Amino acid sequence: MTEQNSVFLNGEFLPREQAQISVMDRGFLFGDGVYEVIPCYSGKLFRLEHHLNRLNDSLLAIHMENPHTRGEWREILEELVARRPGEDQAVYLQVTRGAAEKRDHLIPEQATPTVFAMSNPIAPVNPELAEKGISAITLQDIRWHRCNIKAITLLANVLLREEAGDNDASEAILLRDGFAIEGTASNLFIVSGGIIRTPPKSERLLPGITRDLVLELASTEKIPFLEEDISERALLEADEVWITSSTREIVPVVELNGKKVGNGQPGPMFRTMHGIYADYKQQRERGAAES
Ligand code: PDD
Repeated sequence: MTEQNSVFLNGEFLPREQAQISVMDRGFLFGDGVYEVIPCYSGKLFRLEHHLNRLNDSLLAIHMENPHTRGEWREILEELVARRPGEDQAVYLQVTRGAAEKRDHLIPEQATPTVFAMSNPIAPVNPELAEKGISAITLQDIRWHRCNIKAITLLANVLLREEAGDNDASEAILLRDGFAIEGTASNLFIVSGGIIRTPPKSERLLPGITRDLVLELASTEKIPFLEEDISERALLEADEVWITSSTREIVPVVELNGKKVGNGQPGPMFRTMHGIYADYKQQRERGAAES
């Protein structure tokens, strides 16, 4: 067993094979918990403070107290990633409501949360993705009405992602009430009329950390952007479509429902933003930009 394979569970680091939780854990029985995925480049956790803020919001929304202070989280996660020196990684952390005496929907008055974290290597984002883009399909959003909570309950996302795969697409862009919302595990951007557009934050979508960073960078670089509802039609007629996430960064969608987006190549605005994003990452790795 190498140190690399150790995970964090309820206060200790231990080999993954030895990490065990109760079958009564409400995460297991009800999907009653929340999570975060945080990339780590050159040993530094990327946008950690933003992820910890969102974790707080998710916990608050499900009536749970944060089991750790910010300082404790930082210490735990830094120790975890230090076990894989020199590797870019994605940290997965999960907090569930813990185990109760009996299976009961009602939230138990007293339960000790289960806190779990692991880190896995991530290959550098494949440059081909930025060169060639991906294909996506649109599907009706069958998820619940609190998609702003980063809940571990992801069955709908899993089924939708599977359906995308069955249609030879890498992502499904979800439609609700005639509007394009986000992907199964990514946020959505379109470009039309020279303006970057993304749906505003609401209970319909996850407030993505990468989404916010893209808007922050657009603002700094004085690139016009709007947070506005995107109709299905606007999506289908867009000059460019991108998806964003912590693990995939910014990816251009060049084919949607079997038809070319724009000219079927990653667009000029994508190339600009992709470059700005890469520069930001590099500066941060050199310590110039803040977390
Ligand atoms: N998912 N929307 C959904 C539904 C997501 O699951 C994710 C990320 C995003 C993008 O958020 P961020 O930029 O903060 O990663 C948007 C993670 C990566 C996952 O479930 O693995």
